[in-house]
Amino acid sequence: MTLLERSAACAADAEKYLLPVLRSGEAEKMKAHVQHGGVSTYEHCFNVAKCSLYLARKWKWKVDEEELVLGAFLHDFYLYDWHVNRRRGRLHGFCHTALAAKNAREIFGVDDKVYYIIRTHMFPLTLFWMPRSAEGWLVCLADKYCALRETSARGYGR
Ligand SMILES: [Fe+2]
Ligand SMILES: [Fe+2]
Repeated sequence: MTLLERSAACAADAEKYLLPVLRSGEAEKMKAHVQHGGVSTYEHCFNVAKCSLYLARKWKWKVDEEELVLGAFLHDFYLYDWHVNRRRGRLHGFCHTALAAKNAREIFGVDDKVYYIIRTHMFPLTLFWMPRSAEGWLVCLADKYCALRETSARGYGR
């Protein structure tokens, strides 16, 4: 069983932590954008939230689970389709963390810890933005794992 499949055990808890965000309707906007292959940004972000929580529990890392899940779910909350605009597509890897973190702060009023989980999730691509917390490292790792699984599961990236 893959890590992504095993992390389904954490789905209910992740949803519980995300209840205010999920109820707001703002997160629904992520369903309109494709992330990898046929996976929406919403689905990808929820996968990262489940995996981050699963790994934190499996490795017994001392984390704030609520902030971890919130940062994980909002890590790609940039709300545009990076496949559409070619120039934007090329710069997307570098630029979307700043936009997602800004959106999360403006729309959900996230604190600095969650802000930096989002802002640093592309490390080492964003060389000067290294994760500053255990939660940040978990999201950085889970994001890479999920992106790989989501693309390879659909015959891409092999
Ligand atoms: Fe991202
Ligand atoms: Fe991501």
